[in-house]
Amino acid sequence: MLSYRHLFHAGNCADVFKHALLTRLLAGLGRNPNPYFYLDTHAGIGRYDLTRPWAQKAREFEKGISRLRERADIPEALRPYLEMVRAENPDGKLRYYPGSPLIALRLRRKDDRMVFNELNKSDCADLKTLTAREHRVAVSMMDGYQTLKAFLPPAERRGLVLIDSSFDRAREFPRLVRALTEAHERWATGMYAVWYPLMDADTMAAFERNLRRTAIRKILRLELAVAPQDQTLTIPGSGMLVVNPPWHFDTEARPLLQWLWRALAVEGAGGTRVDWLVPE
Ligand SMILES: C[S@@+](CC[C@H](N)C(=O)[O-])C[C@H]1O[C@@H](n2cnc3c(N)ncnc32)[C@H](O)[C@@H]1O
Repeated sequence: MLSYRHLFHAGNCADVFKHALLTRLLAGLGRNPNPYFYLDTHAGIGRYDLTRPWAQKAREFEKGISRLRERADIPEALRPYLEMVRAENPDGKLRYYPGSPLIALRLRRKDDRMVFNELNKSDCADLKTLTAREHRVAVSMMDGYQTLKAFLPPAERRGLVLIDSSFDRAREFPRLVRALTEAHERWATGMYAVWYPLMDADTMAAFERNLRRTAIRKILRLELAVAPQDQTLTIPGSGMLVVNPPWHFDTEARPLLQWLWRALAVEGAGGTRVDWLVPE
């Protein structure tokens, strides 16, 4: 039923982009002493062994996380994320890559509450094993968009929802806009981080138009493209919408994405974008 397996892609450019931003968003929430809630609607297995055959097949991590580990000029804002990757690999060799649930667990304070959802049965079982000893952490196995109805609004009244669907087709864009609209109706003050691949210009224009038509305000758009649009085998890059981002997140993210672009771009292709798709 679910053909997408994240193990093929773990640690690639899209993961680096997404996880670097996720780390900053969670660190921002952690600066306020009140507990927060974190929901990961499409969580994956949480920790990826890059020596396994699936990861070895395309070795996508070599164009992503491996490149960053070679650099000596890491910006301050990226250090906590890279420290997490390093902590998974104490002998210095890159073998384990942390997915979004593990990143969230590492940044969690004792009263923060988390729900990780994954529809693939065996991935969900792996996730349960990974989180078995954690308090205030639940794992569920349902459609990711249904979790928005099941768990929002949270009692904490502050927190982050990561929507990181497998996105194998362009038709996911309208589903995403619907889901985000419904979630926002349930919890308008929540922070939402929504990952998406960069696809053809018509698809992206329709996505933008549909988002502008919703009642949602404060939508920050962040994008990182590392390959030319005409490389048809793979997507040129990816984006993340952040609804209700932390104060000055745009200013913080701009140099971070510029640095990532310089580190990851193929022969200077692509670029970055940070702008308000819908302002306040
Ligand atoms: C891009 S991966 C998630 C990666 C993860 N968020 C991370 O950053 O480490 C998408 C995940 O969604 C799962 N999935 C696919 N369809 C789903 C659905 N309808 N509901 C929930 N999860 C789904 C896939 O099995 C896959 O593990």
